[in-house]
Amino acid sequence: MDLIFLGPPGAGKGTQAKMLVERYGIPQVSTGDILRAAVAEGTDLGKKAKEYMEAGKLVPDEVVIGIIEERLKQSDCEKGFILDGFPRTVPQAEALDKVLEKMGRKIDHVLTLDVPEEELIRRLTGRRTCKKCGAMYHIIFNPPKAEGVCDKCGGELYQRPDDNEETVRSRLSVYEQQTSPLIDFYEKKGLVRKIDGRGEIKEIFDQIVKILE
Ligand code: AP5
Ligand code: MG
Ligand code: ZN
Repeated sequence: MDLIFLGPPGAGKGTQAKMLVERYGIPQVSTGDILRAAVAEGTDLGKKAKEYMEAGKLVPDEVVIGIIEERLKQSDCEKGFILDGFPRTVPQAEALDKVLEKMGRKIDHVLTLDVPEEELIRRLTGRRTCKKCGAMYHIIFNPPKAEGVCDKCGGELYQRPDDNEETVRSRLSVYEQQTSPLIDFYEKKGLVRKIDGRGEIKEIFDQIVKILE
């Protein structure tokens, strides 16, 4: 099962991908998570990516394509993977096709999550993430039992530096301009499965499982 989650910032790609990981045992491959880890470690990759991410702009294609090429070759991706936040431009999608072709594989479904813009802004400005295990919360929609503490592992919750309203607006416009054309790209291949991303997290998950099974 080779899947792509496509949708604007805050649509719930990460939330739903993590639930699919638990259900199907295939890994979530998030270029955003990989880049944030590199920034936190201060590696060369992190130094390259930091200013783009803080400005809400895309990291250059060649950088993320290289990351994905390496990642998909790892053994845990053999049975499938869930791409979250990649591809984000047409050149990235074309590069992905080439990488998969070399591996004798292809994308099975592109799951699009549709959520109105005002809701996206509410979701992102209230998001909190666990430093230790990456679990995601929302201060209103999905609060942890104790404020600032992860339910799953007791880790400390933090707010992403790009989740302030100004940067969120810039991410949304980058999505409109550079990423939304991918819906057309994958529609031409007959791969798009449209999902209504509004409503309860669990109900959205049920919709996704229905499509996959
Ligand atoms: P990335 O980390 O991919 O961020 P993003 O695409 O902006 O998406 P988000 O992670 O913000 O949203 P999500 O859809 O995962 O939502 P979530 O499930 O967390 O990328 C960050 C940056 O890295 C980019 O700006 C770029 O600089 C760089 N980058 C990454 N990939 C790149 C690439 N391929 N090319 C170039 N640059 C790249 O949910 C959000 C919140 O809403 C949470 O609080 C959650 O609890 C809540 N929530 C979820 N579902 C619901 C629901 N149904 N109802 C109510 N609340 C909900
Ligand atoms: Mg995410
Ligand atoms: Zn945690």
